[in-house]
Amino acid sequence: MLKEYRIALRNSGLINPESIEEFIAADGYQALRKALRSEPLGIYEEIYESGLRGRGGAGFSTGAKEKAAAVICSDCDKYVICNADEGEPGTFKDRVIMETDPHTLIEGMTIAAYSIGAHRGFIYIRGEYELSIRRLTLAIEQAYQHGFLGNNILGSGFNFDLEIRRGAGSYLCGEELTLIESVEGKRGYPRIKPPYPAEKGLWGSPTLINNVETLANFPQIILNGAKWYRSIGTENSPGTKIFTISGDVVNPGYYEYPMGITLRELIFDVAGGIKNNKPFGTALLGGAAGTFAAENQLDVQMSYDKLKEVGLTLGSGAVIVLDSTRNVNQTMLSILKFFKHESCGKCIPCRIGTTQLYETLANELKSPTFNPNKVYRELVWQAELMARTSLCPLGQSPVLPLKSLHDNLMALLTASNA
Ligand SMILES: Cc1cc2nc3c(=O)[nH]c(=O)nc-3n(C[C@H](O)[C@H](O)[C@H](O)COP(=O)(O)O)c2cc1C
Ligand code: SF4
Repeated sequence: MLKEYRIALRNSGLINPESIEEFIAADGYQALRKALRSEPLGIYEEIYESGLRGRGGAGFSTGAKEKAAAVICSDCDKYVICNADEGEPGTFKDRVIMETDPHTLIEGMTIAAYSIGAHRGFIYIRGEYELSIRRLTLAIEQAYQHGFLGNNILGSGFNFDLEIRRGAGSYLCGEELTLIESVEGKRGYPRIKPPYPAEKGLWGSPTLINNVETLANFPQIILNGAKWYRSIGTENSPGTKIFTISGDVVNPGYYEYPMGITLRELIFDVAGGIKNNKPFGTALLGGAAGTFAAENQLDVQMSYDKLKEVGLTLGSGAVIVLDSTRNVNQTMLSILKFFKHESCGKCIPCRIGTTQLYETLANELKSPTFNPNKVYRELVWQAELMARTSLCPLGQSPVLPLKSLHDNLMALLTASNA
């Protein structure tokens, strides 16, 4: 099997996650020490130069977001939020970081807070993640006791307080502005963008919001430098990515590899190939808001730009594999049911559109004259219209899996319902 390259999962399985001493012995909090001796500008420049891109799904430049939040004002309240909602189906990487190495996240967040001048932070965590919550709670207590959180951190004069907020199970609350509403104690409805969180986020103040995996990369970038990070992965997608592989594979699980590994290597080498020696059908990349890859796309490199070139998405790094005997129409129906359920109902195109998409496919699948080409053309048209008129990115998501099925997998759709 290809050898893993672990940065975000560096300590996972090697240290006791409940022991700050073991974390410190593994160079833990050294990056924070180094950061606190530098100017904040040096920190966000380093992250920017590293080319790190957000691992929550959108792949936006992390350094650019940091810089925007850092320079917007020097004497105003600012916040750092870690998005640990992890609601995308098939994604379970953030959970592994929080369960096996919670201090890396705390260290990454504290560095991020120092770089933008924030003194308060929140980890917004999926409510079902009981073990992650327990381990993080303990780790935060330990970090306070050892002077890595609180007032005058490591004698630097920098103060930072960190709290946990539990989510209540809404997929939409993983969307950054909806998440901010939720942290403020309001109902999980999205806000209109712009303004972006770096300008006007939590309680109207500049806010840096990043995914768990993104922040878990900070300490090693600060310790080893941007040039080192850029030497891993591809030019436009530097570093590693944690892939969560599930479905019809021999060895499902989480694996961290340099960006640029091919989909074929991930499925057939890393995950051991298709279960029961069945033929490959498709792989859904990036979860429900992702895209279906066909067999002739297996050699695509897993990086933001290379996947985009062929109409696919990296998203959260989820890879859900289906063998060729699976009914992909039913998989698509489940995805549409998911969006119908998770639509918050605030805007009409998505409130009605998600139901309409689901009902159209459900009814067509019952028809003896089901014609996938015609049906999916109609569904893509409806979903594109919905994407153009919806208020937030959830309404722009169903078109992604639908269009990829229509464009790449018509033969499989026809065979599925035969
Ligand atoms: C409907 C929806 C759900 C999302 N859920 C998550 C999530 O569970 N975790 C996450 O990190 N990002 C999620 N995102 C992306 C966030 O809005 C945001 O881009 C991310 O937190 C930014 O962090 P990053 O730059 O480190 O990726 C979601 C976006 C949408 C539209
Ligand atoms: S697009 Fe959907 S989830 Fe977003 S505001 Fe409109 S109804 Fe709510």
